[in-house]
Amino acid sequence: MPNTVNDIIQMKSREKITVLTGYDSTMATLCDKVDVILVGDSAGMVMLGYDDTRDVTMDDMIRFTTAVKNAKTDSLIVADLPINSYENEDSAITNSKRLVQAGAHAVKLEGGKEIEKIIKAVVDSGIPVMGHLGLLPQTAEKYSVQAKKSSDAVNLLEDARILEKAGVFSIVFEMVTRDVAKIITESVKVPTIGIGSGKNCDGQVLVVHDMLGMFEKIKPKFAKRYLNLSEDIRNAINSYVKDVKEEKFPEEEHTFSMEKEELEKLEKEIG
Ligand code: KIV
Repeated sequence: MPNTVNDIIQMKSREKITVLTGYDSTMATLCDKVDVILVGDSAGMVMLGYDDTRDVTMDDMIRFTTAVKNAKTDSLIVADLPINSYENEDSAITNSKRLVQAGAHAVKLEGGKEIEKIIKAVVDSGIPVMGHLGLLPQTAEKYSVQAKKSSDAVNLLEDARILEKAGVFSIVFEMVTRDVAKIITESVKVPTIGIGSGKNCDGQVLVVHDMLGMFEKIKPKFAKRYLNLSEDIRNAINSYVKDVKEEKFPEEEHTFSMEKEELEKLEKEIG
């Protein structure tokens, strides 16, 4: 049975929630054991080669969401609303509906009290919303650790409470000091999903290309690399190139042959 938003809410303080990003069907199929697949706008960096997430469009997100839906896994699919797609309540609802039509079960928006009304409008339209606080890549001037000062922590907690009241079913906390992430996790009823925010969040999210060691441009401190896939991929590709150049691939086992008589007939026919 596919995970529902309610299943994810129920997991708070019972079991840790696992989230990985996914942007294509092959990877989403391999991620079938994770509770939530996040079709993040990080796709702009890892799939489209942009420097950040700001050039990602709704059309991009629809294409990636469709691909993940086609994997038909039991993971809950959450899709990011890209920058400029939720400037007001109407555009937020329209674009959230487009992502749901493409296969998302919920959408994610970046921001706190400044988007309270927008979040509420999307939730009231019947679409579940995941919040995103702390470092906000769509608007951040630089990527830095959040809530190092007590006054920032107080503002973050206030934002979390506002989002909870607006009806989000969970909140991502990106690069928030672990002490503050713990306090907030204990202060809100909805699950908190950390990325670079310590183990006390209710769940964890990583960009799948980071944890597999496939993305070489940026290597965040918080992204544990479970594999060094870029090296394995490069070695495999280099071997393929060498084999083809040296005529070691394909071998007979990779090819198809004609019956002997048919071959003889052909040779006679064409001289
Ligand atoms: O776009 C994304 O991948 C995200 C995660 C970093 C949480 O928003």
